[in-house]
Formats: sequence, structure tokens, C-alpha cells
Amino acid sequence: MSNNTFYITTPIYYVNAKPHLGTLYSTLIADTLARWNRLMGKKVFFLTGSDEHGQKMYEQAAKHGMSPQQFVDSMDQVFKDAWKTYQIDYDGFIRTTDPIHKHAVSYFISKLKEQGDIYKAEYVGQYCVPCEAFMTLSSDMPIDAHGKPLCPTHKRPLQEIAEESYFFRLSAYQDQLLEFYENNPNFIIPKERLHEVIAFVKSGLKDLSISRKTVSWGVPFPGDPSHTVYVWGDALTNYLSAIGYGQSSSQAQQQFATWWPVQVHVMAKDIVKFHAVYWPAFLMALKLPLPKHLLVHGYILVDNDKMSKSVGNAVDLNLLGTTYGTDQIRYYLMRQMAITHDGSFSLEDLETHLNAELANNLGNLLNRTVSLALSNKVLKVKAPSHWSHASMHLFHNAEETYRAYWDAMSHGMIHVALAHLWKFISSVNAFFHEQKPWVTVKHDREQFEETISATCHSLYMIGVLLSPVMPIKARELLAALGKTIDAALNYDTQFRSDDCWNRTFTLEHTPKPLFARIEPAVATAPDVPPATTPQAVSGHQDAINIEDVTKVHLVVGTIRSCEPVTGSDKLYKMQVDLGEYGQRQILAGVAKVCPASDLIGKQGVYVANLKPRKLMGLESQGMMLFAEDEQGMMRMTTVGYPVKNGTRLR
Ligand code: MSP
Repeated sequence: MSNNTFYITTPIYYVNAKPHLGTLYSTLIADTLARWNRLMGKKVFFLTGSDEHGQKMYEQAAKHGMSPQQFVDSMDQVFKDAWKTYQIDYDGFIRTTDPIHKHAVSYFISKLKEQGDIYKAEYVGQYCVPCEAFMTLSSDMPIDAHGKPLCPTHKRPLQEIAEESYFFRLSAYQDQLLEFYENNPNFIIPKERLHEVIAFVKSGLKDLSISRKTVSWGVPFPGDPSHTVYVWGDALTNYLSAIGYGQSSSQAQQQFATWWPVQVHVMAKDIVKFHAVYWPAFLMALKLPLPKHLLVHGYILVDNDKMSKSVGNAVDLNLLGTTYGTDQIRYYLMRQMAITHDGSFSLEDLETHLNAELANNLGNLLNRTVSLALSNKVLKVKAPSHWSHASMHLFHNAEETYRAYWDAMSHGMIHVALAHLWKFISSVNAFFHEQKPWVTVKHDREQFEETISATCHSLYMIGVLLSPVMPIKARELLAALGKTIDAALNYDTQFRSDDCWNRTFTLEHTPKPLFARIEPAVATAPDVPPATTPQAVSGHQDAINIEDVTKVHLVVGTIRSCEPVTGSDKLYKMQVDLGEYGQRQILAGVAKVCPASDLIGKQGVYVANLKPRKLMGLESQGMMLFAEDEQGMMRMTTVGYPVKNGTRLR
């Protein structure tokens, strides 16, 4: 790997449920850093993917009445769609069910076996299926009513497993690992997390069970297909398999040589042990160079709980994106959640920040500048032959901001970089205010034009620096100045050059506001098309009275479960929580045109006072409302903002 290449990865996510804010957060960090490095002129490979093997997936598939392969195939698209919605611009998407990946895993295990790093023995341990890991029992573990230990994260009973297993000689790498940490104090960012890892390794490493006899959904263990490779052994290998490892073609080998070792593995603190201990030990055994850095972030908490699909408190990403705009969510997560700490997510906080920082500070500045220039016939904005002291001061500030932004981004501290940028945006606002171009335009045209030009130069830098975080909004901002991002340019050279403050901007029309203001707690989607002229209905022959409307109880409820009805290819049976209207069994004939994964956990709208009726021998206790889209898919009707179950529509 040369200095001009940058390989960055996200964890590969379990596909037993849809992506949520937590998984989006890691993916956004990696996407933002990948985009930043491309901007800095580097050749980038950004890898994400899905972890599709193991007991968890097997059980989830069975719940949906699907084969494991059918199930993971259906979820694969759900992840890709979510990443597309949020502008995640990955270069590779690896699935652990991909043939090249399975081949690389067999190759890797066979190699370890051949060189004597693997042996077979009996294993007895306590296993947590959602974690896909054996747990070490400790006195501070939560327990159930019978005194049995529970997983601290998932609060679920552990399974005692006693079976024959293959083991990796992890213990043999203890000293080498400690030496590596010692020589690479910046291996983990932030540094503090390395201490925990060192303490864990020093406490003594046990050999690692790397096969499972009772899990059939996995990569067959080389030489002994009665076992499958342990999911973490399988999963970690994705970072190699996606870039050609284990393949013999010269093209694959070239690809591997280009990208390995990886520059940054992004993850939350839950999986540091796997990446900081097991993974380097595997790589040492393979005699491959070790990753340069692990960028470890905190958790996003909702109601003080770590958001995860197993815990089941996920916020719906599609709803969030359509309500607030996906770039706005990207911004909020990258700015307000400090990578180094856990962060709480709340809609109130989100709305406050979007209004203050995006609509007021940035959006208004762009709008005021461009509209003032255009209303005074300035269409081409040029640099003056000499900049005044005030402008020079602003640019000095800009140069410092650039260096601070660069430095923070080079260390993965995106929230710090954005804080610097917003400080600069405030200075530009202050500059604009002090220079009063709406006054100078009346008596000092030269000064007026200079103020517009200095502000446009500043906005240009802001737009470019923002592009890794808000790619769509940055493009709109730059377009308003007659600029685009040029993928062939090295923007580091650009912003460090003396020519930086000598640009020309072309203004054509006052841009529509970059960010719509959000009315507190009544979020309006920013890009809602203007309402069409209402059609008069009074004379319509089907017109009804308000009394007719109030007869129907339209009620909001959350779908707790949804499964196909045996013997029918159309019907779903759902359990819906309708709050004070109770838990209802509702049948809907949409199985062919609406994936169950689109429904589970979502709030829909139901007719709650419809007489029960029987379908296929089962009682349906209400009716769920759907809308058919142009492709004939049924889309559930929902509310734009989460409300209490049982809320009646009015
Ligand atoms: N499949 C393994 C990873 C294998 S990588 C070789 C796995 N998958 S996961 O779906 O459970 O994802 C865990 C990762 O998702 C965390 O490390 C983190 O990157 C992200 N997050 C999941 N919940 C999160 C929060 N509540 N907050 C922040 N990140 C979260 O573990």
C-alpha cells in the first residue's frame, strides 16, 4: 500500500434485522472519511458489507418461513437500499455468503491448519446467540428469576454448549500482541481504549474456539465438514476476501497488494476485542501486515439504551430521512455525536440543531449573499486587485480553519472538524454583518463587491469542506456559486495554494433555501412539492358528512410481528399493539407485494372498529391501511412522527 491509497472499512452488519441509526452511524463515519480522502487526492477503497452466517440468521430465517439463503438475500437489498438513500458511496460490498469470500475463509483456515495453529478439543462454555460469542461468567452478570446468568448486553439467557471444536492457538500470540501494542500506541483511536485491550491480553489469552458443530449455516470447516467456521473467524476475513485474498489470478493479487494493509477499520466499542486481539493474531499467523488503525466510536443511545436490532429500539431510517432530509441526518450524526463518547439521540435536539446551524447560520448566509448580489446586478463575482484588511483577516481565519479541519479529519475526529467549520461560518456571518453590503452598495460599489466576493470565497471553501458530510447540500451550495466538485482535483493542494483567494464565481439565480426551517415537533419534509390547487368536493356525489368520518376509528398501532399464513401465498398474520384498543390480530392480503421486513416494528394506521371477520379460519380484528405504488407494491400507511399506540387520527 502506498501513501496515496486509503483503504477503510465498516463492520459487516448482521442482517437479522434492518439497518438502524447505530449501524448508519458507523457507515457514515467511514463514508465521510472515504469522501474526505478522495477530496484530498487519494485513491480510496471503501468497503462495507453484511455478515450473513450463524445461528442468529438461521433462526431469523425460520421465523420468516424462509431458507437462510432466501432470507439473507432479501435483507441484502434492504441494507443496500438504506445505504443508497443515505448516499453511502462504497467501493465494495462483501457478503459472507459470496463464493469468493467463502473460498478465502477456507483458504485462511487451511493455511492455519497446515502450519499447526489449529487443533481439535472438547469445548464447554456459555454462549450468547445475539452476540455470537462465548461469555466468561462473572459475579456482576445480570441473572434471571432462577439465578441463571444473562448476557449483559441482551439480557437473554446464555446457552450452555459442550461440543467438540477446533481451536486457534491464540495464547501463542500473547507476547507478540503486547509487543505490537507497545510499538503502535496509535493503533486504536482514541488511544485510551488501547489500555483496556492491553489489560485484557495481559490477563492471559485462552485458545479460541473457531468452529461450531451445531451450527449448520456457515462455511464448512476445511477437512471436516461436520463443523462450520465460527462466525467471527468467517466475518473478520471479509476485510481480506473483498480485496482479492486467497485468489490466484494476478489481477486479484495486484488488488490485494494495492490495498492491504487497511488504513482504518471503523467500529463501535462492542467489537474492539475481536478487532484488536483476535484479528491481529490471525493476521500474525498468516504473516500479513496488521491494520494501521481501529477507529472506535461510542454508542448512539435512545432513551439511554444502546440502539441495536436485538434490543429492538431502532428508529426507522427511512422515516427519518424523508422527514428531515438524509443530508441533514448525516450532518447531525457527524456533528453532534462525538466519536469518542456515547451520544443520545432525540428528535427535539435534532430539530434545534438543524434550525440553528443549517437553516440559520449556513443557509441564510448563502441566500442573503446571492440574492443581494443578484438584486444589484452582480452576476460574475471576481477577486479585487487588492483585498482589504478585513477580508485578509477573514481569509487568515479560513486558512486556520482549513488546517484545523484537515488535522481533525486526519485523526477521524469528524465532529471536531465540523465544530471548527461552524466557528468559521459564524465569523463569515459576523464579517457580512460588519461590512453591511446592503448599505455600502448605495455609496461604495467597490467595497460592496469586495464583501460579496470575500463571502463567496468563504462559502466556496465551506461547501467543499462540507461535501464529505453533506454531499447533496454541498453540491447545491456550490452550484449556487457556479461551482462543482472536480473529482480529478486534489483539494489539499488547492486550499494550501496562494491562488486560493483568487476565484471567479458565477451567480445565476437566487437559490431556493438550502435548508427548510423545521417547526418544532411538527417536522415538515424539506422537499415536499408545493400543494396542488384543491379540487372542490362539495358538489361531489360521494361527498360525506363529518359524522360519517368520525364513525370510523382510525388508530395508530405498532406491528409487533408479521408472518405468512400457512396455506396462503397472500395473507400475513400480524400482531399489532393498538395501545388502549388492545393487542389485535390483523390479517392483510399483501404478502406478495409487501416484504414483512417493511412492516415489523413500524407504526401503521388501522380501522379499529371494524367487525371481526374470518379469513382462512383465522380472525382478523381490524383493517390495516395501505397505498399501492406505481409498481404495484403495497406501502403501509404510517404517521410522519412517532406517536403513542392507540392514538386516534383526527
Ligand atoms: N457482524 C458483526 C461485525 C463483524 S465485523 C468483522 C457485528 N455486527 S452488528 O450488526 O452487530 O454491528 C455491530 C456494529 O454496528 C457496531 O460495532 C457499530 O459499528 C454498529 N452499531 C450497532 N449499534 C450501535 C449503536 N447503538 N451505536 C453506534 N454504533 C452501533 O457486530
